[in-house]
Amino acid sequence: MDINKLIQSRRSIYPSQYSGKKVRKSVIKQLLENANWAPNHYHTEPWRFIVFENNGLKRLMSTLSELYKQHSGEAFNDSKYARYAARAKQVSHAIVVVVDKSDKPNLPAIEEIEAVACAVQNMLLTISADPTIGGYWSTGMLVYLQEFADFLELDDNQICAGIVYVGTLKENAIQPKSKRGPVEEKTTWIRE
Ligand SMILES: Cc1cc2nc3c(=O)[nH]c(=O)nc-3n(C[C@H](O)[C@H](O)[C@H](O)COP(=O)(O)O)c2cc1C
Repeated sequence: MDINKLIQSRRSIYPSQYSGKKVRKSVIKQLLENANWAPNHYHTEPWRFIVFENNGLKRLMSTLSELYKQHSGEAFNDSKYARYAARAKQVSHAIVVVVDKSDKPNLPAIEEIEAVACAVQNMLLTISADPTIGGYWSTGMLVYLQEFADFLELDDNQICAGIVYVGTLKENAIQPKSKRGPVEEKTTWIRE
């Protein structure tokens, strides 16, 4: 596919559009392989991936639902709580993305996060290039909780950067629309 079309037609496709059918492991491995080729300063390769499938995926979803219950307070909503259990049936794989901050003294932490975001975009574009699958990058406040880091068994130098959900698209899956304001409004050209 033409690179411009691939980039501009990439959409976040949410689990309600997934059939529950498993995505082949070779496809998941390709996502990870492409993520691994992201640019990174000082070659630190700061991305780490924890892939949840099958019972692991159920365990991830039940952990998130319990964290939601504990931390949502007055905003608690039954249908949102139930959504996690539904997700375990819709999604094929959940790839938890982790920033592994190096101890290089001259490397600002933001650069490690930037590199990991590039790795995620590589995954999202790879997903988008396959018309049979969909995915999106999910964060929300739960992924930043210490309890979630403990569940993932992260080290102190690691931060969870969210979850990439991947699923097989239903036959009649709706391709979402998205929009962007003109790039000209976000660009300054310096000529002199
Ligand atoms: C860092 C990051 C975190 C995101 N977290 C969420 C999320 O928690 N829930 C969600 O529905 N979408 C999330 N998204 C996806 C955005 O909502 C989506 O990219 C945006 O609506 C634009 O749609 P598009 O990806 O189809 O162009 C996230 C995107 C990024 C870059």
